[in-house]
Formats: sequence, structure tokens, C-alpha cells
Amino acid sequence: MQVEILGQAGEINKQDNTLIIKSEIATAKISVYSPTIIRVQVMRNPDAKDHSYAVIQQAGSNFDFTEDDAGFEIRTSALKLVIEKDLLRFNFYTADGKELSRDDERFGINWQGERVVNYRKVYADERFIGLGEKTGDLDRRGCNYINWNSDVPFYTEKSDPLYQTFPFFIGIHSGATYGLFFDNTHRSFFDFGATTDHKMSWFGADGGDMNYYFFGAQSVAEIIKDYTWLTGRMEMPPLWSLGYQQCRWSYMSAQEILDIAKTFRDHNIPADVMYCDIDYMDGFKIFTWNNETFPDPKSFIDKLKEMGFRLVTIVDPGIKMEEGYKQYDEGVENEYFAKYPNGENFVGEVWPGRCHFPDFFRDDVREWWGASFTALTEPGVEGFWNDMNEPAAWGQNLPWMVKFGDKYMPEVRNVYGMQMARATYEGTKKILGKRPFVLTRAAYSGTQRYSAVWTGDNSAYDEHMLLGQRLVNSLGLSGMSFTGVDIGGFSYNPTPELMVRWNSLGVYTPMYRNHAQQGTVMREPWEWGADNEAIIRKDIELRYQLLPYVYSTFYQSAQTGLPVARSLAIGHTFDAAVYKSEFQNQFMFGDSLLVAPVASAADTARVYLPQGNWYRFGTDEHFMGSAEYTVEAPLNNLPVFAKAGAIIPIQNIVQNTNEKGDGILLIHIWNGEETNTFTYYEDDGLSYDNEQGVYYKRDITFDPSSRQIIFGEVEGSFVSRFDKVQVVMHGFEGLEHTATLDNIKDQVIFTL
Ligand code: GLC
Repeated sequence: MQVEILGQAGEINKQDNTLIIKSEIATAKISVYSPTIIRVQVMRNPDAKDHSYAVIQQAGSNFDFTEDDAGFEIRTSALKLVIEKDLLRFNFYTADGKELSRDDERFGINWQGERVVNYRKVYADERFIGLGEKTGDLDRRGCNYINWNSDVPFYTEKSDPLYQTFPFFIGIHSGATYGLFFDNTHRSFFDFGATTDHKMSWFGADGGDMNYYFFGAQSVAEIIKDYTWLTGRMEMPPLWSLGYQQCRWSYMSAQEILDIAKTFRDHNIPADVMYCDIDYMDGFKIFTWNNETFPDPKSFIDKLKEMGFRLVTIVDPGIKMEEGYKQYDEGVENEYFAKYPNGENFVGEVWPGRCHFPDFFRDDVREWWGASFTALTEPGVEGFWNDMNEPAAWGQNLPWMVKFGDKYMPEVRNVYGMQMARATYEGTKKILGKRPFVLTRAAYSGTQRYSAVWTGDNSAYDEHMLLGQRLVNSLGLSGMSFTGVDIGGFSYNPTPELMVRWNSLGVYTPMYRNHAQQGTVMREPWEWGADNEAIIRKDIELRYQLLPYVYSTFYQSAQTGLPVARSLAIGHTFDAAVYKSEFQNQFMFGDSLLVAPVASAADTARVYLPQGNWYRFGTDEHFMGSAEYTVEAPLNNLPVFAKAGAIIPIQNIVQNTNEKGDGILLIHIWNGEETNTFTYYEDDGLSYDNEQGVYYKRDITFDPSSRQIIFGEVEGSFVSRFDKVQVVMHGFEGLEHTATLDNIKDQVIFTL
């Protein structure tokens, strides 16, 4: 196979916000989306329809353009793109001339057969972060990865690929940052200088064109904001989905689920969500109920609701081939299933046996799928767990000629799960008229607009727990904020210590779900002995106390794209310590809490506290930042630190999110030297009224120089579920005094 290089620039054409350059083998099109986002397409077929599953914005920014003998220059207020005429090389600089990223001088962009590749220069000190659900270290330098959504039971700390595709990474070098999103849905490859003599990093795909968005903002947080502006952000999830969730493959009957739910209440362990895994169905037929074990879904779900629980049910894409089964008959009749080129429906085997697979790439199929959810919503289901949508089939390898929409499998496999999640989200949102909770296993960039994700079939051992945190942190760098792992580990049996430790980390995981594989020991909190149950209860209670903080953090994320669980590489990008293997799992949970995951058997932990001052959460022991410490880490006390200046709203312990609580919102403030503002946010947690201004939002500021705590003006028309506010101070020696706002709406300044 020949390597075809781009060749010299030929004819050019500049329109308002695009520049088109023809070369011998391809056409380059450069468009500017914002001053910090430039798109580069290099296409062999420039007339092909421009379509993206991920991107929701249009090019819209003008730019300055100059041309001389050597090349072209595109300038925005933030960036400069220099395009060399000779071999069409694309080199990016900040507006003031700092080099951010450039093509490898020798190889740049080229094709090898159908494969399209971009070789880029790698800098001596360059680090790479992101790429979503990828195993390995936080810093991906020296590693290579494949994007090919796959069902990977029993995956290990080294397995690749996993279930999801996020072809977006951030490069960090020479004090500068840039991001790159390769929006190509074919099987794709990323090599961060694995075997290139430290000269190149490269990425490419099995087919399609070179099509990337370059992000030039000078901070990781700003790059994530830009990336999520381009690909969308999550909307506010239902509040109940942020409570504790209990799942298992499978609770086998309605009665078993009711018994488990009641045991939570009897043991005073807060929880909001119960799950039905595949065994609630009749013969694994999607949108059916087993009428022996779930004889009356409505009265079952009503009983759950009376106990303050919501129900989430699983749906898989495979539709069992069985005449008389509604979805099968409708799908065949209307030709809703993926097909071979001769018109035969593709057949793959999954849980129900031989199945057809809905073609979620078609509008009519997505609508049909979405409308089918009435079978679940009518009895009262409010959450929809989309599984097996890589798509998984026994044997895994779908024939290349299976057609989805107007494309063949190799081009769109990586997006199938996203389109299923989209169909589920759009359909259930319409039927419910309120926020659905959607969870998906497979995903592509932009899935945050429709669904939460979890990291599939993990395993019950320490390294997997720690890996899971890196996956969550890396997903957060890639636009996915609502993420979780199977707490306790899906496969194998955790030791009691691992179960307890993992649950304590779950407090700080955006989605807090305990789930386990068929055949493993029962995992519910009371299965681990009285002492362990007490620790698990206390941790789950803490999650509920923190919910006002968690919800406000989700709001911040919905507004900005900044994740809820944040790798320290976001806030401390140029601090080498955060990339060290012993500290790389640490993360910020929201603006103010630093969490250090610890293996289950350890009593102490080595932690790194970055720049600033820190307080141990719970004891207020003070630590100076930019230093390593060995700290106590017994099973009942995961190392968590509040940042100096932290403002954290906390409520009293409730058993579920429907409970009003005592009406007092505690605003905890930790002393610090810098002014800090926290945006407190609340709404009904269920409806879309928030989009009409029905929310309660205010800034709370602590200003150490004037020694003031300022409760700003309340915005929005929602009546807070709290009646009054109490301020609780930490680290203010001699100042235990707590101020109180008797009316939650008061605008007040307290001077200390
Ligand atoms: C897959 C899912 C797992 C689920 C099981 C049965 O393995 O990843 O979470 O419990 O299928 O539905």
C-alpha cells in the first residue's frame, strides 16, 4: 500500500469563515468555530456531506488571513495557524507566537490505502491526558490506544479498547496547553509517542477523512469548556439519580426487590434507586415483563415509591426473533433492523438468543424505540439502563457489510451505543415530560447530551477500584461528567474491606451505584457484618449530607462542562507530582474537596496536596500544600481534604431525596487567604421548569481581607426546600460563632 502525501497547495478559495486549499490528492478546508477553536479537514472527497454525531455548533468566526510564498496564515484573537504551502503542514501557535502543536515536518497528514493518519511533533516534555474510558496512566505519553467500542467482560488494568470512544486529548508542554478532537467514527488509533524515537505522536483511522478540531485555550479547564461547547453538555439530572443506587444481576422478582428496599429502610441506610437487570423480562424480550416473577409491575413500583425508591430497568438493543412479540413484529414489518446488503436482517446472538438489532441511525427507528418505552413508563419506571450497545453479540465480530443508516458497520460501530442512548433519552423525555435518567455502556463524544455512562464489567480487586477512578477522571476530561463504576466490582467477590473502601469512594463518584455479577455474593450494605455495615451506612449518609454540594456541582458542570470528578491535572496542570503513579488517582470532587483513593488493606496513605492550604475533611487538621504526606487512612476514614476557602453546603441526613429534612442548610466554610465564591443551586430536581427560571441560585462569597461572608442576591423563582441557613466555620481560631439566616431568601453580609 502506497503512502500518499498531500503534496503542494494549489488553488485556494477564502470565504467568510473558511479557507479551502486544493492539493494533489486532497482538499483542505479550514474553518474557525471560535477564537480558540479551529477545524481542519483534509478530504479526498470534498463533496461528501458534512455530518457529525458529536458536534452541535457551526463554524461562525471570522479570521484574518494572509498569504506569502511560503504559506498561509490564519489568525484569530487567540490563535495563529500557519499552513506551509510546500507539503501542506498545519502548525498552531498562540496569537503571540508560542508554538502549541505542529505537524511532523517529514510526514504530516497522509493516507495509506483507506487509512488516514496525522503525524505530529512530540515535544520533549509533552504529556497527554484524556481520551475518555482508557486504561493506563493519567499521563498517556508513550502509550497507544484503539477506539473500537467493545464488550470486554473481565477487562484488566491494561485492556484496550473498552466500551467507549472519545477521540479527544489534551497536550501539555513547555508551559502551554492545547486540545485535539479527531471527529472520525471509524476504528481509530492514537499513539502518544510509543515507538517514534520521541519525535512524533500520531493518530489516524481505518477510513474517512482527516477531520479534527484544534483547541488553543491556555488552560485545561478552558479547553474542556470549549470542547463541551462544541459537543454539548449534560442537562441537570434528576436529583434522585444522585442518591445511592442498588443494583444486581439480577434481583429475580418484584418481591425480592421490595424486600431489599424495605431492608434499606429498616436498617436506616439511605437509598433512592433499585434496579431491574435482565431477568425482569419475559425471555429477555425488551419492553416486556415476566408475568410470574413481576406479575403486577405497577403495584410493585407503587410500593417502591411509597418507600421513597425509584426504579431503573435495563434495556438491551437485541430484539428477540419471535413471531408474536410486538417489537419483533413491528421491527420486521417496518424494516427497522440493521440489514445485510441483500436486504436480509442481520442476526446476532445475545441474552434472548437470536436477535435483530434496531437501526438507531434512522430517525423513524429512534422514534419507534423511544415510543416503545411506554411499556416501562406506564407502570412507573423513570430510569433506563442501556446495555450491550457496542453492540455486543456473542462472538463479537459483526460482519463489515451490516448496514446502519446509510453506512456500513466499520464506519459507525463506535456511535451505535450513543444513538441508542439518544433514542432512549429523546423518547423517555417526551413520554415522561420530566427528566429521565439514562445510563449507557457504549458511547461516543457528545453522549453527555443524552446519558450518564458507567465503566462496564469491572472486577472486585483493589487495582480495579483504583483504575476505575482513573477512568472516571479521564471521562471527565472528555466531557462526560455523570459517570460511575460498579462499586464493589462487578466480577468476582470483594473482600469486606474492599467493599467498605470502595463504597467510601462511591460517596465521591458522580453516580453512586453498587452492582454485581450473577453468581457473586450478595452485595447489599448489611451483608458485610455489623461493623462494616455501620461504616457503609455512615458513608452513604455522608453522600446524602453532601447532596446540596453535589447538586450545585452538577449545575456548574451542566453550565461549563467542567467535570464533577476532576483529575488534579485540570487545576494543577504543570505540577509534575500530580502525574506520579502514587498520586495520579487523586481528584477534586467539585471545587473544594480533594479525594485520595486508597487500597483496601492500607491503614495509612501517601497523599500529595497541591498548592494551597488544606484541611482534613472531618477533623480540620491543617496541611500546607505543595507537599507529600503520610496520613491515616483506616477503613472508616478515606483521606479527603477541604481546600482552604472552601464553601460547602450540607444538609442533615435524609433517607432519600424525597425527604424534606430539617429545613436547615449548613454552609461550611474553611478559612483561607483568598476570596472564594461558591454558586449554590437548587431546583425541583425532576422537571424542566428550571429551564423557565424556576430555580434558586445565589453566590456565596467568603472574602478574607474584609472578613466577610456575603450571601448574594437570590436568582430564580424556585422556593428553596430549606427554610434557613446556618454558617459553620472551620479553621477560624477562636471563632466558633455560627451565623444564621432566618429567611433563606435574605441577602446578608456577615462580618467576622
Ligand atoms: C452486562 C452488563 C452488566 C449486566 C449484565 C446482565 O455484562 O455490563 O452490568 O449486569 O450484562 O445484564
